[in-house]
Amino acid sequence: MKRCNMIRMSMDMCVLLLFAVVSTGLVNGICPSTCLCVDDSSGSNVDCYSRYLGHIPALPNDTYHLNLLLNNITVIDIQFCKEMPQLQYIFIDFNLITDIPVNTFADCEKLYRIDLHNNKIRSIESNTFVNMTNLYYLEWPTIQMDSEEKSASAYVTFSTINMINHVFIAEIGAN
Ligand SMILES: *[C@@H]1O[C@H](CO)[C@@H](O)[C@H](O)[C@H]1NC(C)=O
Ligand SMILES: *[C@@H]1O[C@H](CO)[C@@H](O)[C@H](O)[C@H]1NC(C)=O
Ligand SMILES: *[C@@H]1O[C@H](CO)[C@@H](O)[C@H](O)[C@H]1NC(C)=O
Repeated sequence: MKRCNMIRMSMDMCVLLLFAVVSTGLVNGICPSTCLCVDDSSGSNVDCYSRYLGHIPALPNDTYHLNLLLNNITVIDIQFCKEMPQLQYIFIDFNLITDIPVNTFADCEKLYRIDLHNNKIRSIESNTFVNMTNLYYLEWPTIQMDSEEKSASAYVTFSTINMINHVFIAEIGAN
């Protein structure tokens, strides 16, 4: 009888512990199993470099440094800073992204640096990067131009950023 109680108690402990682990994980979101996440005083530093990812995984909401460099991501289907308000750096170059939805960087006031080059971007809306008061470095995607109109819209974006934020824009080679 006593022994039974002991087993019962340790099972309860187990359930409790499991619950604690799961709920801690849920507080900030769980690190994707294919990525490496390091927590420090700024939040989560998430490294998904070259993991053959086909899409952007669910990420901890305290992510401040996000490395998705060299994957097979085709679409941006999240609003980065709505989900991760602390974001300061995004590296998403060398992927297969074709479009950047206009709200992708909404509420990204803390974002410092975006690397977007070497994707398959076709066009960018002119207000995609507005209100990013801390942006200082943007590795500009090469637009895959197939019409005059797209070329014009890329130019508008480029000059708008320059005027508003004095961003240093690096235009890096062809796709
Ligand atoms: C990633 O994309 C490249 C280029 O399209 C392709 O050759 C490769 O097979 C893909 N790898 C995976 C794991 O999806
Ligand atoms: C992350 O989500 C948790 C739970 O919803 C919330 O309490 C916390 O404030 C969020 N953190 C950030 C940085 O948004
Ligand atoms: C940019 O900021 C201004 C001033 O706060 C605001 O009125 C506008 O709606 C913002 N634009 C976007 C696209 O967030």
